[in-house]
Amino acid sequence: MRKRIVAGNWKMNKTYEEALSLVSEIDNMVKDEVNGDVTVIVAPPFPFLQSVGKLTQGNDKLYLAAQNVSEHESGAYTGEVSASMLKSVGTEYVIIGHSERRMYHHEDAQTLYKKLKATIAQGLKPIFCCGEPLEERDADRHFDYVGKQLHDSLSYLSNEEFDQVIVAYEPIWAIGTGRTASSQQAQEMHAYIREQLSRMFDAEAAFNCSILYGGSCNPGNAKELFAQEDVDGGLIGGASLKSRDFADIIKSF
Ligand code: PGA
Repeated sequence: MRKRIVAGNWKMNKTYEEALSLVSEIDNMVKDEVNGDVTVIVAPPFPFLQSVGKLTQGNDKLYLAAQNVSEHESGAYTGEVSASMLKSVGTEYVIIGHSERRMYHHEDAQTLYKKLKATIAQGLKPIFCCGEPLEERDADRHFDYVGKQLHDSLSYLSNEEFDQVIVAYEPIWAIGTGRTASSQQAQEMHAYIREQLSRMFDAEAAFNCSILYGGSCNPGNAKELFAQEDVDGGLIGGASLKSRDFADIIKSF
């Protein structure tokens, strides 16, 4: 069975104190209000991982993710953080290939493949992001664009490695813009992604892969998005910084 997942990507927001209060609020709301079978993930900035992670430990629905990881195992890579370091402070998931990292940090398909390998090798689960810019959608090339992103980074994984992967479809034109993909646009792309995955890996593994939608997801639109057959949850940016909104999104299943 596919896991239903709601992950909050905090990006470069919050101070230490603010991060701790946010995760405490989320922890309480998830414990008090969320009954269904859903995995909730928070992805704070690196310096707060360990402390935020400690506050998630008593909650069997709440898990910790990093927003990035180095493709290297260890060594002279100033400013980088390895998968084994993330694991050693209790991280279980890693966001890989977010469009902001592809854009501002020039992460290419080969680098993302190495990051996937490094993450899976440590027993962590990657949340692999894909999604097209507006000009590709306007030119009706969005399926090819996303298909190539999947192929260029994922197709070299083994079936066993792929079993650990979660995919997040985040159309760039919907990220932080308030303009969300319609539930129909999300569903048709998610179905396409699943079909592409079934060509690269076991059909069963593709069927079981959780595919999350991201891009201006909020309490008002989450229910309709999550109701789509191939939408298995969300990767939430702005709305994950407010505990009430985030909890309401989680409860939209
Ligand atoms: P948003 O960001 O929800 O603020 O649009 C989503 C993301 O970038 O993961």
